[in-house]
Amino acid sequence: MKKIIAIDGPAASGKGTLSRNLARELNFAHMDTGALYRAVAFEVLEQDKEPSVEDNALDGCKALQVNLHSANPLSNPDLRTEIIGEAASKVASIQSVRDFLTDMQRDFANNPKDGLDGVILDGRDIGTVICPDAPLKLYITAKCEIRAARRMKELQLKGESVTYEAVLEDMRARDARDSGRKVAPLRPAKDATIIDSSDLSEAQMLENALTYAKKAFG
Ligand code: DC
Repeated sequence: MKKIIAIDGPAASGKGTLSRNLARELNFAHMDTGALYRAVAFEVLEQDKEPSVEDNALDGCKALQVNLHSANPLSNPDLRTEIIGEAASKVASIQSVRDFLTDMQRDFANNPKDGLDGVILDGRDIGTVICPDAPLKLYITAKCEIRAARRMKELQLKGESVTYEAVLEDMRARDARDSGRKVAPLRPAKDATIIDSSDLSEAQMLENALTYAKKAFG
């Protein structure tokens, strides 16, 4: 059985932290698929173009493909800003962009690196579109107000001056775009286990997920 864990959920649900912790505990490889969409958006904004226009977004995909050969554009800390997150959500609504990034994600899922025991991909459509046969699917969610408070803390730690109201408004807009789009909308797969992280600590989240992983993979 392929050891693939699909982890989906909205922004600031805790899925990224959980994925990293789980990958470390299980000795699995981890792909943050949001970074792919962010990297495409970054390339589009570098050209001063509008990310919701398909041709611009596809040029961004091509630029990313070129950069992937020479550097590691996915680890660029500049991808982590709210502006890039918003633009990523726009390029992510375009079918041809999603198609472009699908092979990269499936290739990662199906070819775990030597020495690693499996893979974890986190994103919005991993359980529904990218890896519909993953033996373990988790859908991580939390109340919008709690996710906005978490995001605000993150941004303040980075020195960005933001208000809770503005972050909450952005979070609602991003949720609406990610869940309301026609292509690969954010939603739990039918066979996903839903975990509400609103009142759980990082350690409790990990403990829960390890229990599900044990059930799925022995
Ligand atoms: O998880 P994140 O905030 O880094 O993702 C940035 C945007 O990318 C998000 O608003 C929606 C999009 N995304 C997506 O549509 N599908 C994925 N698998 C991952 C991210």
